[in-house]
Amino acid sequence: MAAKIFVTRPVPRAALDALAAKYELEVRSEDKPIKPEQLALACKDVEGLLVVGVRVTEEVLKAATRLRAISNAGVGYDNIDVAGCTSRKIPVTNTAGVLEETTADLAFGLLLAVARRIVLGDRYIRDDRWHHWQWNLLQGFDVHHKTLGIYGFGKIGQAMARRGRGFGMPVIYHQRRPAPAEIEREIGARFVDRETLFRESDFVSLHVPLTTATDRTIGAGELRIMKPSAFLINTARGRVLDEGALVEALERGLIAGAALDVFEREPQLHPGLHGKKNVVLTPHIGSATIETRFRMAQLAAENLAALLEGQRPANIVNPEVFG
Ligand code: DGY
Repeated sequence: MAAKIFVTRPVPRAALDALAAKYELEVRSEDKPIKPEQLALACKDVEGLLVVGVRVTEEVLKAATRLRAISNAGVGYDNIDVAGCTSRKIPVTNTAGVLEETTADLAFGLLLAVARRIVLGDRYIRDDRWHHWQWNLLQGFDVHHKTLGIYGFGKIGQAMARRGRGFGMPVIYHQRRPAPAEIEREIGARFVDRETLFRESDFVSLHVPLTTATDRTIGAGELRIMKPSAFLINTARGRVLDEGALVEALERGLIAGAALDVFEREPQLHPGLHGKKNVVLTPHIGSATIETRFRMAQLAAENLAALLEGQRPANIVNPEVFG
């Protein structure tokens, strides 16, 4: 009998063709979160789980006694109890490699939108408030040649840095260890300590994964040393940033603005962010393009097939299960 696979949200069917040919596939029809107890029920006889935007908790893993492989359609995997998977020898993969450029496009778009007041301009016209050209209308801040600070210099951070270089921006970055010299040279980015990054950047863009080490790693201390003319961009995870501290920094004028695609308690918005004109908000759409979402679904399906066939895909996030 073919092994059962559960796909937690509807993704383009064509991306699943190869899986469907070999396995018994159940694709959930609702594109919304599912409660852990419902997911646990759905996973009872499942051997392969293709995770799209849902949480896989201990409760799910406990119920899914036949589960052999989990493939996450996303690069971040903080939605999955990886430690619980590893202790059960269940390999987990992600879709690193297909969404970095797309996410960096959005991050740079947010940077431009907040600095140049693009969203406010759109609203201004739609509200029928535009009656004549004005010298003082919606003056923003220059982007070109300003210093771009990248916090977390992985593939998305590097893609963001390249976009900044295209705008003539000096790029500095911080992460635990400097990147290889050839990457620094190719991109034209300079490693700095954490404090220098926040002090010297005109735009700080966050690109670290959410882990216990990065949980609310950016808070009052970092925001206080940023320039009052600086902007913060977050397309990583909401919880790497202390949202309360951000709201306070915006209210006290410690920074000039922020652009956020991710939030501490999605889809809830911190009430202090709601009415602020110097904040641009998008609903976690970093990788949301037709092409990239298709590639993510396809890669997640390929990873799952490889795992179920006993192979070790490149995108394994808990390689220790292979011993
Ligand atoms: C990712 O790939 O991690 C995106 O944020 C989608 O969850």
